[in-house]
Amino acid sequence: MLGIRAQVEETVAAIRRRWGQEPSVGIILGTGLRPLAERVSIAAEFDYADLPHFPRSTVAGHAGRLLAGTLAQRQVLVMEGRFHRYEGWSMAELTYPVRVMRALGCELLVVSNASGGLNPAYGSSDIMVIEDHINMFFDSPLFGINDDELGPRFPDMSAPYAPELIEAAMRAARGLDYVAHKGVYAGFTGPSFETRAEYRMLRGLGADAVGMSTVPEVIAAVHAGMRVLGLSVITNLCRPDCLEETGHEEVLAAADRASPAMTRIVEAVLAERGPTA
Ligand code: HPA
Repeated sequence: MLGIRAQVEETVAAIRRRWGQEPSVGIILGTGLRPLAERVSIAAEFDYADLPHFPRSTVAGHAGRLLAGTLAQRQVLVMEGRFHRYEGWSMAELTYPVRVMRALGCELLVVSNASGGLNPAYGSSDIMVIEDHINMFFDSPLFGINDDELGPRFPDMSAPYAPELIEAAMRAARGLDYVAHKGVYAGFTGPSFETRAEYRMLRGLGADAVGMSTVPEVIAAVHAGMRVLGLSVITNLCRPDCLEETGHEEVLAAADRASPAMTRIVEAVLAERGPTA
């Protein structure tokens, strides 16, 4: 991890040259949640390819732009398109943008993703407010020599997702009359969807949903001292004894159905709690 700081400073300088505000919230938009980007009044936007040291998106359906502007009266940085372990990025590389967000001043990270529902009570397009996670990557963005300026060697993970933000999100979902659950997200590398035996195993381990992202970014954010809100859209139902085929299109379609509610929940939480509450 040593050496990252100098790179982050260069990326930060490139952003600051074109955008003078100090953001308090960083948002990572996952599969099908683009509509939230449309709610941002954009003051500046950056192609990932133009930002020094930034990775580049390789997945269809994930653009590669960093948006800077305001949402719910907060200065925000929005990643339109995220990086995944299965693209070949190391955990440190794919969490690099979180380091940049933190260095620019973000205290709160909002992450969204699509996931397969393991909990039999979940339905397609339900929202799961992430309460906790299980790291099935067996890898960490914190491997290597720790940079104490970025965060502690052994970060506490007793509450990686801020309890008051979980409750605020649940309240917002109830206010919309939208089905939302609090649950445990298991991060699996992908890119293949899981087998029946893996879904069974993950349920047995205590997971309510499984996806291919989020865990690395949340570990980096907690290490950096940020508070986190994580929202997941259940896009397919993982019922190992009567499993149907899953494809990327189905995942995108189910995520799209939830995106208006996701958008409103994020805006409601930001408006209600703000970055420092
Ligand atoms: N597994 C892993 N990632 C996913 C899934 C799934 O079933 N659905 C959407 N993302």
